[in-house]
Parts: sequence; C-alpha cells; structure tokens
Amino acid sequence: MSQQQAQPLAGTTIVAVEHVNLDYHKEREPLPVLVDVSMTAKRDELVAITGPSGCGKSTLLRIVAGLIRPSAGKVMVLGSEVKGPRADVSMVFQNFVLLPWRTALENVLFGLSPRKDLTEEQKREKAKAALEVAGLSGFEDVYPGELSGGMKQRVGVARALATEPRVMLLDEPFSSLDDLTAERLRKETYTLLINPQTSVQSVILVSHNVEEIIELADKVVVLSGRPARVVGEVEVKMPRPRNKKSEEFFQWVDKVYTLLS
Ligand SMILES: Nc1ncnc2c1ncn2[C@@H]1O[C@H](COP(=O)(O)OP(=O)(O)OP(=O)(O)O)[C@@H](O)[C@H]1O
Ligand SMILES: [Mg+2]
Repeated sequence: MSQQQAQPLAGTTIVAVEHVNLDYHKEREPLPVLVDVSMTAKRDELVAITGPSGCGKSTLLRIVAGLIRPSAGKVMVLGSEVKGPRADVSMVFQNFVLLPWRTALENVLFGLSPRKDLTEEQKREKAKAALEVAGLSGFEDVYPGELSGGMKQRVGVARALATEPRVMLLDEPFSSLDDLTAERLRKETYTLLINPQTSVQSVILVSHNVEEIIELADKVVVLSGRPARVVGEVEVKMPRPRNKKSEEFFQWVDKVYTLLS
C-alpha cells in the first residue's frame, strides 16, 4: 500500500498517552476506571497492554482510538491530540462482528465508506490490497457464514488495514480462536509492523495471555485491577524469532506475572 506522508524515524514516539483518567458513571456515581495512565508506543514498536479482567484495558484502547474522551489527560498520535476517531488509527475490536449479508470485500469496503476523498474504484483497490495482505486473496466474494473463525478475524484485520493507518489497535484479537489459528495470526501480527507494504508504524495489543505477549511485544504495560494504574513496564529485550520453549522465554513470562500478581 502506498505511503505519501513523511516517514518518522525509528524511535520517534507515535502514540503518547499522557496522565489519562477515565470515570464511567454508574447510578450517577462516578466509577473510576483509569487513574493517571501514561504510556508510549514508538516507531516500529509492538506494545502490549495487560491487566486483570475488567480493569479497563478495552477502555484505554478506545480512548487511544478516539471513541471515548478521557475525563482528564490526553492522547497524542504523531504529535496531534486525539479528539475523535481518525484515519491514521484503526482498531480491531474484541468480539469483532462482520456484517453477515456482505461479502468479505464488502465488509472491508464498509470501513472505507467515510472516505469521501476516494472514488469507488480506489476504495475497491485498497480493500482488495488489504485482503491480500491479510492472506485472503481469492475470498473477496465469500460471505462470513462460509469463513472460519480465523478467516473472519483476518477480514477484521483487513478492514482495519484498508484505511492505511499508522497505528493499529488490537483488542484480544486471538482469544476466540483455536490454538493453531491463533498461533498463525500472531506471527502475522508482527509482520504487519515490519512489512513495508503496510502503513502500520506502531501496534498496541491488549491481551491477558502472557505467553502471547512475550512472543510478540517489544514492551509490556501492566495495569492493576480497577481502577487501573500502570504497575510497571517491561521492555522485552529478547531477539526474534523467539523460542517459546527456551529458559529465557519463561524468565520474561515470569517478570510479567510478578507484576500482575
Ligand atoms: N460504557 C460503560 N459504562 C459503564 N461502565 C463500563 C462501560 N464500559 C465498561 N465499563 C466498566 O468499566 C470497567 C472496565 O471495562 P473494560 O471493558 O475496559 O475492561 P477490560 O480490562 O477490557 O476487561 P476484559 O478483560 O473483560 O476485556 C468494567 O468494570 C466495566 O464493567
Ligand atoms: Mg476488554
């Protein structure tokens, strides 16, 4: 996919979450969910966010995506403040749902429907290219009912890629898949970041699977139980490809577990 804008250098901060607080409201009482959360994702970094169930991980990702405004603090993406959904940030949702009456290609095109700057033909080209990167060439005209769980998830990834985002947000993208499919898609996730055919410069992955995180992440941000605060960060300085059976791998897994417990 093409890349018209200037390329930030390696090490440049792509996403900065700065002192974010978020309160939901329950029976008119404020329900604090995020307290003073700060984190960054740099160029070519895959950052994982983990924490106990219900602590506020999806909420944090939605704030980065511009779907929820923080109660305090702010999120910067490529130097400008996030004030709503934007073209350079795409999210693949937890429990991603496809429109069953639309083909794979039409589901991807749906993600491009707000783009008034593109002709229908250009949208189709971008959607097809995204399906190809997601490994779904030849499945353009297939309906979701005929796709496996892993393939549906790939359509979700293609839909997020089609808009040529700089930042890709993934909320538990593998948790509903069988082990083999999940493992294959995990390998492809890191490729999204390093593949020069994609526009993606940073990936933020929410996951509660610590082994998955150590397999993929450059950095792990560990959140506490609700209300979530950052308990610690782990820079996973382990060369790739990472051997999941090595002693070193388990030491990194252990470091994250220690922060979680
Ligand atoms: N729209 C909402 N209104 C009120 N409370 C909400 C809303 N969305 C989420 N919550 C509450 O905020 C807390 C954090 O939810 P969130 O979905 O961000 O957690 P999570 O860490 O992603 O959980 P999980 O591990 O189950 O995916 C939960 O207690 C949830 O019940
Ligand atoms: Mg969640």
